[in-house]
Amino acid sequence: MISVVIREYSSRDYWDILQIDKEAFSPSNAAYDVYLYLKYGNILVADFNGKVVGYVTVMDMGEDAKVMSIAVKKEFRGMGIGSKLMDEAINWCKLRGKKRLLLEVRVSNFVAQNLYKKKGFRVIGITPKYYSDGEDAYIMSLTLEGQ
Ligand SMILES: CC(C)(COP(=O)(O)OP(=O)(O)OC[C@H]1O[C@@H](n2cnc3c(N)ncnc32)[C@H](O)[C@@H]1OP(=O)(O)O)[C@@H](O)C(=O)NCCC(=O)NCCS
Repeated sequence: MISVVIREYSSRDYWDILQIDKEAFSPSNAAYDVYLYLKYGNILVADFNGKVVGYVTVMDMGEDAKVMSIAVKKEFRGMGIGSKLMDEAINWCKLRGKKRLLLEVRVSNFVAQNLYKKKGFRVIGITPKYYSDGEDAYIMSLTLEGQ
């Protein structure tokens, strides 16, 4: 496994994150508001030799929190970075006493679902036509309370 450091977002990471987002999502979430996440949640980045190779965004929803997006640069996938990012996002929520960590994932995105299931997330519902191309989303939840 390569040595990446998971750290808090800093403003110099902005373009790297947009680039990773563009590469990972179609249509891209590029218009997402970094400042919103920084104010009402958190952004963690995976830093490899000073270069951002992945990120996760989390929103504080009161009792619960929600993973809004997670992505790893293509050539760095399958190296445990997504797993590390998710571990740190979970820790961030636990430290704030969140009851659950929620997320939505495309029903076709088996790779991401595998990662989430490995972390203990379970499917609790489905949102029909959640994505702009009409695909449904699974709603997944990880119970944090008492963990
Ligand atoms: C989903 C994503 C973030 C995973 O990041 P990653 O760094 O490649 O994942 P990891 O190497 O940490 O692997 C963690 C787990 O994910 C699953 N996984 C990773 N790559 C996989 C693959 N090619 N096929 C099946 N499962 C896979 C496995 O469960 C793996 O655990 P294991 O190594 O013990 O088997 C990455 O694939 C990505 O950026 N995808 C595009 C964006 C995306 O779909 N984001 C999720 C939106 S909801």
